[in-house]
Amino acid sequence: MKVRVDSERCQGHTLCAMNAPEVFRLRDIDGHSEVVNEEVPADQEEQAVEAVNSCPERAISIIS
Ligand code: F3S
Repeated sequence: MKVRVDSERCQGHTLCAMNAPEVFRLRDIDGHSEVVNEEVPADQEEQAVEAVNSCPERAISIIS
């Protein structure tokens, strides 16, 4: 599974990084999310899906 953050949509709500801290991190420069590892390890997929569903801006997509 791969994920992507749309930096135009991200407003820094932080829920993604709280739900899946090994998949998403917040950039120091603007507090927006970035993907730590685009290829999500199998044991992180459940958390990554929670992160996708938690984002109020719908900024995260599963791309495969
Ligand atoms: Fe951004 Fe959504 Fe995460 S707004 S910081 S991608 S919860």
